Amino acid sequence: MKLQWARLSLRFVVPLALVLALCAYVVVPLLDNLTLRWFVRDLDIRSKMLASTLEEPLLDHVPARSRARINQLFNKAIEDERLYALAFCDVNGNRIYSTSTYPAAVGCRDEGEGVEGGDKALVHLPRGPVHVARSLLMRDGEVLGRLVLVHDMSFIERRSSDTRKFAIVFFILLGTVISMITVAVAHLSWRGWINGVRGLLRGELLPASHSRPPPEVKPLVGDLRALLHEYHLERQNHRDSAQEWTPERLRELLRGELAGDEVLVVSNREPYIHQQTANGIEVARPASGLVTAVEAVMRACSGTWIAHGSGNADREVVDKHDRVPVPPECPEYTLRRVWLSKEEEQGYYYGFANEGLWPLCHIAHVRPVFRSSDWEQYVKVNRRFADAVIAEARTDDPVILVQDYHFALLPRMVREALPRATVITFWHIPWPNPESFGICPWREEILAGMLGSTIIGFHTPFHRKNFLETVDRYLETRIESEASTISYGGKLTQVEPYPISIAWPGTTEVSSESQSECRANIRKALALPADHLLGIGVDRLDYTKGIIERFQAVERMLELNPSMVGRFTFVQIAAPTRSSLDEYQSFEARVRALALRINQRFSNGNYMPILLKAEHHDQYQLNRYYRAADVCMVTSLHDGMNLVAKEFIAARSDEKGVLLLSQFTGAARELHEALIVNPYHIEQSADALYRAITMPEAEQRERMRSMRTLVKDFNVYRWAGHMLLDAARLRKRERVMQRIDAHHRPPLRRVV
Ligand code: G6P
Repeated sequence: MKLQWARLSLRFVVPLALVLALCAYVVVPLLDNLTLRWFVRDLDIRSKMLASTLEEPLLDHVPARSRARINQLFNKAIEDERLYALAFCDVNGNRIYSTSTYPAAVGCRDEGEGVEGGDKALVHLPRGPVHVARSLLMRDGEVLGRLVLVHDMSFIERRSSDTRKFAIVFFILLGTVISMITVAVAHLSWRGWINGVRGLLRGELLPASHSRPPPEVKPLVGDLRALLHEYHLERQNHRDSAQEWTPERLRELLRGELAGDEVLVVSNREPYIHQQTANGIEVARPASGLVTAVEAVMRACSGTWIAHGSGNADREVVDKHDRVPVPPECPEYTLRRVWLSKEEEQGYYYGFANEGLWPLCHIAHVRPVFRSSDWEQYVKVNRRFADAVIAEARTDDPVILVQDYHFALLPRMVREALPRATVITFWHIPWPNPESFGICPWREEILAGMLGSTIIGFHTPFHRKNFLETVDRYLETRIESEASTISYGGKLTQVEPYPISIAWPGTTEVSSESQSECRANIRKALALPADHLLGIGVDRLDYTKGIIERFQAVERMLELNPSMVGRFTFVQIAAPTRSSLDEYQSFEARVRALALRINQRFSNGNYMPILLKAEHHDQYQLNRYYRAADVCMVTSLHDGMNLVAKEFIAARSDEKGVLLLSQFTGAARELHEALIVNPYHIEQSADALYRAITMPEAEQRERMRSMRTLVKDFNVYRWAGHMLLDAARLRKRERVMQRIDAHHRPPLRRVV
């Protein structure tokens, strides 16, 4: 009896001791380190923001030597509970202005006592550690001095100690529970039961009859394995941030996580358009951010892309199943074309999609038009594409990537025929707030159609939130906001933000010219002097792109800075789009008229401030313009993401050039080093444009370098990879759930 007690106590003490040791030697130091790193990063960002807010007033006060104003400004700023002290140091490292709290030990030079690192650092003072950030104050390329921001870090110490306490208590509890379970299991000695669980966990899904575990074990094991798998994927996701996403990695993911399952893409716009020309059949690439992004993914994944065959020679190159291998020069996947009659295209594409949903989802102050006849065609064409998807599927559980607002109804139609399919719908444009969306007469049908998806993706958390609120307003569903899931008609849909991006490394052929050759050649082709300043804008001729506002900003900048007249030209590349719609025709006419008026106003000899090139340009040509420009203007009034901004950054391997970016694009949430503007505020954009073309090279380089790192890491392979990883997780969970259901398990609440 004594021996048994000793054994039991040992079983209690050993796990408890192990868990506590783990907590003390691994978890607590790790937590301390992590929290410190997070907070320091937080303070870096905060310091940057504060510095840029203080910059403007300082640029007025420093040259004017207004000590009283600077003191007032500094003292007001340090009312903020975390900002401890401020100082302004001149170029020789002399402290000129500072708050009374400024610690002498921090000094005015980068290499002040105890400073770790260059312009941001931790300094250990007797009162505790402080965070020091230095920011250059520059005017017209001349350095006036440095602003030094000192943040109090004592709150970090307090928070770390709270976290530590919490972790210790948690681990004591965890250790106790584990120990008690160990004792209980040992005591009851459910050997057979445990062996069954072990067997299944080892992967013996169908054990031989002699070793089959008791039936009641199976559901529990299913749950355990699903949990283990989720844990594994989660860890992989975390590791992911440090690992590069490449086409190879995406392929590996498909092979590993999705066991080579088939991938089908469906979109309205096709990636290759065959056109009859005087030289025979030629292949064109459409101007569509969606196509640019998804094409790179399809090249990596193979599979089949189903799209509308819109080229006048499209029918001539397909086989009897309407399929053609693409890219034409070295096929990597299959394009399956769907044919539409004029009437169908008019009602579904021009009518419901582009006169209804497009203006409904974009805040550009163009009224949506909804006609019953368009809606009927939209339903019909969604059905046609759904049938094509079902016919192309070789298995009953393919992964189907549905693209954009043309196919809101298709996910449910496909799900009804292929209940085991994984349908990922990506909405490439913004999602409006519930009131705006409520204008749509078929709002319930659209939402119900979309909720046939396993996953719905948006570019930003904000659009995801709008979508959840819209569903909440108009459909009877159960929404788990924390988990971001919607349960509708017994099916669960995961709603997530996946910011889209471009291929990095790129897939398009790039000119072999050097950066300076490219710069010179483009200027020569435009008959501009070699040192001429050049701006570039690349868009479809769409009213959401803010082209009118952009031209007005160019005009205002020239008005305010006459020295730039004759020195700066803005090239607007505008691909024609949806031109049979009245709204687009009148927009094009307004753009042309405005360019003409501005050109007449400032023209002088051969000089024209705006060169409007309203025709399609391929990626190769665009890339040359991006490389030759001093500034790229993206001034959309509303845009889901905007890939032009990212393409410009990718093209600037010389780390020069400035991006001027509308705050109403999804891209503005990622590219913080761009000059962010409100395109409706013409003066602000004009100022930003002037600032861009006069920006010192060192500043251009710093901004561009940081944005390039971001676009490189957050490339399109990562976008697709994250959606597919989530899909893999949900597929596995679904399979586990089906197995459990097959064993008559009482229904579980499915939490994602
Ligand atoms: C936007 C849409 C895409 C569309 C593209 C070009 O980016 O989100 O779905 O393909 O515009 O428009 P178009 O009507 O020519 O396909």
